[in-house]
Amino acid sequence: LRVLVLAGGLSYEREVSLKSGRRVLDALRAAGVEADLRDADVALLPALAADPPDAVVIALHGATGEDGSLRGVLDLCGIPYVGCDARSARLAWDKPSAKTVLREAGIPTPDWVALPHDRFSELGAVAVLDRIVDRIGLPVMVKPAQGGSGLGAAVVRDAAALPAAMVGCFAYDSTALVERYVPGMDVAVTVIDLGDGPRALPAVEIVPRNGVYDYAARYTAGRTTWHAPARLADEAAARVAEVAVAAHTALGLRDLSRVDLIVDDSGQPHVLEVNVSPGMTETSLLPLAVQAAGLDFGRVLEELVAQAAG
Ligand code: DAL
Ligand code: MG
Repeated sequence: LRVLVLAGGLSYEREVSLKSGRRVLDALRAAGVEADLRDADVALLPALAADPPDAVVIALHGATGEDGSLRGVLDLCGIPYVGCDARSARLAWDKPSAKTVLREAGIPTPDWVALPHDRFSELGAVAVLDRIVDRIGLPVMVKPAQGGSGLGAAVVRDAAALPAAMVGCFAYDSTALVERYVPGMDVAVTVIDLGDGPRALPAVEIVPRNGVYDYAARYTAGRTTWHAPARLADEAAARVAEVAVAAHTALGLRDLSRVDLIVDDSGQPHVLEVNVSPGMTETSLLPLAVQAAGLDFGRVLEELVAQAAG
């Protein structure tokens, strides 16, 4: 089995992706799988056509990796890959669309408003602010409708801080997602399907040292503490696992995903987003969950690759 790990690409999360790709490559090789790593650059298509691997692992984050476009290229080449198809990736990647589907499926997700930049300019900051405070109140989370790794995201507790947060967000995407901020425990649940249906690995609880899980807290050693499994009562942990699998299924995902949630003080989970190409770096959550489940990261990848290659 010859596996190609794709990483890098053109997105704001390029650096993260290169780290994920390296970690995946090392884990596959340690499990005895023949694997190579390459950048998803302009020469990718001819390279795939000339020497197609048996399967691809997509370690690309952000645009290209998560928005379905690279998956479309692989489909075009007839090369199997680990993870969901292009259509489901596109759906999960666009937070407002994904949240609409989740809510329709009865999966709790915080109230939101999706605001394109043009609308923001047209209405003006004050009118937008009034509308948001009317609809969802404060505090809110402002984040790019399509994005990752906390880039362009901010918590807004006081109305005066909203315009600046919107501008910060529009640096990354032309549509902002303004979402009700739910206080509680931040958890990430890895969902894996090794051929016997999707199942949730132990939830990982995220405790950023300065209270905000931003880019620096995600990728700087020592900035975040994790608890795997999360410090949840049995009942809440079971509910979180159930909701995570339901979210994965509702979005039509396969093989693996990471569902990010807040568990409020009453133990109720609220899904924030579902990642189809979750981080695999030294400080990422999926490898921690795999370890907490007593599984070997390389072996899990090997199984997923074998499954994809059929
Ligand atoms: N967007 C980053 C890579 C993550 O979800 O882990
Ligand atoms: Mg994400």
